[in-house]
Parts: sequence; C-alpha cells; structure tokens
Amino acid sequence: MVAVPQPAPSSIYAARRQALMEAIGPTGVVVVRSLPERVRNGDSHYAFRQQSDVLYLTGFAEPDTTVILRPGAEQDRVVMFVRPRDPAMEVWDGRRAGLEGAKALYGADAAYPAAELATRLPELICNFEELHYAVGLDEDTDLLIARTVARLRKTEKRGQRPPRAIVDPRAALHELRLRKAPDELHALRKAAAISCDAHVAAMRQGRPGTFEYELEATIDYTFRSRGGAGPGYGTIVGAGENATVLHYVENRCAVADGDLVLVDAGCEYNHYTADITRTWPANGRFSPAQRKVYELVLAVQKSAIELAAPGVTLDEIHQHCVRGLTAGMIELGLLTGTVDERVADLAYKRFYMHLTSHWLGLDVHDAGAYTVGGKPRPLEPGMVITVEPGLYIAADCEDAPAELRGIGVRIEDDILITTDGRENLTAACPKDVADLEAICA
Ligand code: GLY
Ligand code: MN
Ligand code: MN
Repeated sequence: MVAVPQPAPSSIYAARRQALMEAIGPTGVVVVRSLPERVRNGDSHYAFRQQSDVLYLTGFAEPDTTVILRPGAEQDRVVMFVRPRDPAMEVWDGRRAGLEGAKALYGADAAYPAAELATRLPELICNFEELHYAVGLDEDTDLLIARTVARLRKTEKRGQRPPRAIVDPRAALHELRLRKAPDELHALRKAAAISCDAHVAAMRQGRPGTFEYELEATIDYTFRSRGGAGPGYGTIVGAGENATVLHYVENRCAVADGDLVLVDAGCEYNHYTADITRTWPANGRFSPAQRKVYELVLAVQKSAIELAAPGVTLDEIHQHCVRGLTAGMIELGLLTGTVDERVADLAYKRFYMHLTSHWLGLDVHDAGAYTVGGKPRPLEPGMVITVEPGLYIAADCEDAPAELRGIGVRIEDDILITTDGRENLTAACPKDVADLEAICA
C-alpha cells in the first residue's frame, strides 16, 4: 500500500482552532457538524464529502462528526463526537479513527460517540453567551440545537442556562476561511495545475464527433490520475448552443463541426477546488462571429483581472465587466442605444445574467461575507476569487444577428489577491485565440 495525499499536519488545524477561539473570545462556543449522508437509491449513498467547516477545523473526513470549541472552558476546549471503532462495521464501511483517533490524531481534548451528542450537548454549550452555529444547513441539527436551548431554559434556575445569541459562522469562522494560508494556497495551486492540464487534454481531444461525456471522462481521468479527489463541482461540457445553458451538466451531445465547446471544470485536491472555464473551437478555427464574441469576453476578462487588487470590491470588478460587455453587445448589434442606458435598464442581463466573481476555496462558492457594514467589502491579500465574465446568445434569440445565435462564451480564472496586486493561479491554462487554435487544430 502506497501513501495517498495527506491532509495538512495536525499543528495547522490546531492553529486554525486557536485563531477561531481567539476571534470569538471566552464567551463564545462553536458547534460545527457534518451534513448527513444522502441516499442515492435503495441502500446506496452518494459519495460522502465532509462539511467544509469541519474540514477546516480538524481535517476529519468521516461522516457523523460534530466539533465543539469552547475557548472559555477550563477543560475540554476541543470536543469531538465521532463514530466509535466498530470492527464489524469497519469490515463493511472502512476504517474509523474512533474516539482514540479523534484525540490522538485530530486534536480533541475529549471525544464521545456520535450517538451521545443529544444528551451531552446541553452541558457543553450551557452558560456561554454566543453560540456560533450555522442555522439552516441541516434541519435535524437545527432541531437538536432548538431542543437543547429549550432544555437549558428549564435548568436555568439550577445554573445551566442557554446561550443568549446564535451567531452566523460568517462572523468569525468564515472570516478565517476567506484569507488563505500557505498550506491552503499549496492545495489550491495543485488543484489549479491539475485542472489546467485537464482542460488542455479536453482541448486536444475535442474534435467534431467527440461526445461531451468523452471530454468529461478525460477531465475526470486527469483529475483522479494526478491525485485529485475528482471534480469540485458538476463538470459542464457544453458544445454549440449547449454553451448558452449556464448549468448544463447533462454532457450527452456530440460536438459538431463549427461548434464552440465551453468547459467549466475544476479539480478538488486535498479538499480545495479550482474553478476554470475555457471556450474553444472544436475544429481548430473560430468563425468570424465566434471570434468577435470570444475576443470581446477575453478582453473584458483580462482587464477585470488587472483590476483585482487590495481595496477593490467584487462589485467594482463586476460593474467593469458589465460596462465592457454591454459596450460589446451594442457593437455586435445585440443591443441598441448607449452603454449608460442599457446598463441602467439592465438590458445586458439577457446576454450576461450572472455575477463575475465568487470566493474560492474548500467550497467552489466558498464561505465568507460579501458585504461588510452593508457595503461590498474591499479585497485583501490572501483572498481567492474567480473572474468569469461571459456572453450567452440563445439559439432562439430572434432579434440577435443570425450569425451570433447559439454562441456561448465564458472565460474563468482563479485569482489570488496579493499585497501588490494579484496572481492568476490558473494562468497556465491557455485562453488566447492563437493558442487555442493551435491546440485544437
Ligand atoms: N463552476 C461554478 C461557477 O463557475 O461558479
Ligand atoms: Mn466560478
Ligand atoms: Mn466555473
């Protein structure tokens, strides 16, 4: 048996827990929990993937896990509830770390069987002021929290009272997740490098006659054969007018001569995902109309990346893209009037209907508040964002010039904000017209 990619060393998780405990202070208590395993059909489950807050704080990847952090407690500041060792079950479902593993390998001061969570939770969260807990992710856990609070109301006279506030994890935990540390950037760079190779492999393979699912298979193969866990979100391979459907994941059509192929695919490596989109001509040549649309999106995307820097907001980057794309739409004959008019009446949304950026990390749409004090937040070094403008002209858009109908283009890169600007983590993935035409020839 050979070693597989290892999660970060335990000291890194200890430092993250310490940072969170300092951020919430001695009056706070944190509860994060796995999401339930989901049935796919019969008694088969979807592959389990740990909830990202649990991963961030422990690296512990098993189902049915609860992590409780109690910075103000005199003992048992880090408490975990996990599945106990069970030789009979482990024959069927694989190894478990168990209570001993949770303590020895994952930094728990105390560990209990998952089945004891409901009975032990009151004593673990009582008498703290703020409970940091993400309401709304899982109804069963929401109910457990509500019942625990109700139970503590009844014991208040005897000295065990409920927390006074339930606080969104965005306030402290997700602030930490927003700013990526070196080990996180290492995983993101690796995810980005594997994803770039997968996109190039698809470009090389994607001649007319290839099926979209064959390209998806090549992408999956590249992800897994390079040590990635697989795609970090549903891979999109859309040829021709399928590229105008934003979340097209059926991937079942054949690529036709003259199609552009839009591929949105990112590898998850050590739980961090890349998120790349490329659009390229299957036959090795952009048609004049495709090229006009592509070069518009490319120019807007490149200038938007140049804008990304500390102090700038995602809203400003988006507005930059909206204005640039709207000007292009007018030039292409998709819209009439002036840029100001068409931005004001939102007419551009027919052809550019999504936002330009999101946080990227453990989740493809990563955790973190987008506004601070009701205003778009300025970017800071260590944040990782996507920049992904696009233009989508539906095949049945009868008032669009005929040669533009059915063209969909998106170009997406992953951008690390640095002290002096930015670093494009996915710069190795080709996107210039000449490079794409050479690879696809
Ligand atoms: N692949 C999802 C996104 O681009 O946001
Ligand atoms: Mn994205
Ligand atoms: Mn994407």
